[in-house]
Amino acid sequence: MSQSDFSQYTWGGRFAEPISELVKRYTASVAFDQRLWRQDIRASLAHATMLARQGIIAMTDLAEIERGMAQVSQEIEAGSFVWSLDLEDVHLNIEKRLTALVGDAGKRLHTGRSRNDQVATDVRLYLRDSIDDILGLLGQFQSRLLDLAEAEAATPLPGFTHLQVAQPVTFGHHLLAYFEMTKRDAERFADCRRRTNRLPLGAAALAGTSYPIDRQLVADLLGFDGVCENSLDAVSDRDFAIEFCAASALTMMHLSRLSEELVLWMNPRVGFVKLADRFCTGSSIMPQKKNPDVPELARGKTGRVYGHLMALLTLMKGQPLAYNKDNQEDKEPLFDAVDTVSDTLRIFAEMIPGITSQPENMRHALNQGFATATDLADYLTRKGLPFRDAHEVVGLAVRHAEERGVDLAELPLTELRQFSELIDDDVFAVLTVEGSLASRRHIGGTAPDQVLAAIARARRA
Ligand code: ARG
Repeated sequence: MSQSDFSQYTWGGRFAEPISELVKRYTASVAFDQRLWRQDIRASLAHATMLARQGIIAMTDLAEIERGMAQVSQEIEAGSFVWSLDLEDVHLNIEKRLTALVGDAGKRLHTGRSRNDQVATDVRLYLRDSIDDILGLLGQFQSRLLDLAEAEAATPLPGFTHLQVAQPVTFGHHLLAYFEMTKRDAERFADCRRRTNRLPLGAAALAGTSYPIDRQLVADLLGFDGVCENSLDAVSDRDFAIEFCAASALTMMHLSRLSEELVLWMNPRVGFVKLADRFCTGSSIMPQKKNPDVPELARGKTGRVYGHLMALLTLMKGQPLAYNKDNQEDKEPLFDAVDTVSDTLRIFAEMIPGITSQPENMRHALNQGFATATDLADYLTRKGLPFRDAHEVVGLAVRHAEERGVDLAELPLTELRQFSELIDDDVFAVLTVEGSLASRRHIGGTAPDQVLAAIARARRA
């Protein structure tokens, strides 16, 4: 390649030979940072507007840049834009095409700017939009969850500890636990958005620029809440991406727990719920199978989001200030985290209405687990027995019932009274599942009217 051939590259002037094909492929990011094209153009237009208003470029240049960028957008949208590996990344591809379309005005766009502050701006704009989408998806998931919780507000379900039947809860109450988790998730994303929404442009390569720029104007034009206050930090900070991955990891962890429960609940031996066929798949060899593929995959995909968080933390830990090419590696993990958490939330929002409870199986499991034993102990305590003694008495009664192969509520009063004289025929109201549920009627409790109240509060919020 002659000097004139490779001077087409943006920095051709300084170099005596072109990079090898292998290096070109190794260093290029255009294959994956293309997805930033809208943000790149938007940020360039705001930058150009500022340059023109400050008299750094002519108003006629701005008009040409706007005309050219409209054309570039159209071409990308239409799929006719030619992305070139030679031009390394989304920024140079767009700038080169702009210059081909409008000439010198295109060459003036990069005045007072570097790809270092440009890419940081694009990624922040992209992530801000992604967070807004994710907040919408979280809201959708939550409202479907509330609908199901309302329908199941009084459906008794065995509550587990150690995966052993513990105490009765309602299915609605159980579902509301996931509402609380995703409420915290939404808070975390909203909080991450605040720190994401700051403008790096103006930092240029690392030290700022000698042109009389107006950073606040660019921030206003792009809807940023403020500017990054130190130019070195502006080009090298990726905290916002790490925070996003951390928030995503927690969200995925919550969805993974729900997935695990769905897989368990769908197991025919448990049979607490049925999941609509459209979220399951069959087996290529076993004709009887109906597998909960969607929850299983969500559980599996959680691992890759954890991986992205670890990748970004590791990416940053050894970097001296300010920008290093390492930072180009921030995009694929971040983009995949955005895609994974968005897709998973979308499919979960659709899947929730596909869940049908099997109340008979829930009750059957409850009746086998002495789930109201604590209620009997509380009953004795209310009658004056110290709680520790009551605990002991009920333990003996449970052992007796187990030997007889019946539930506590099925023991006749005379047999129950062998364990404590304090037991009377009012005990049966306490030993029933409904009695147990209704008695937990404080805020955060599982009583059906409390579940309905919690749903009402959630809907108001
Ligand atoms: N593609 C680069 C990235 O993603 C853009 C910034 C390049 N800056 C540089 N000095 N090489 O980080």
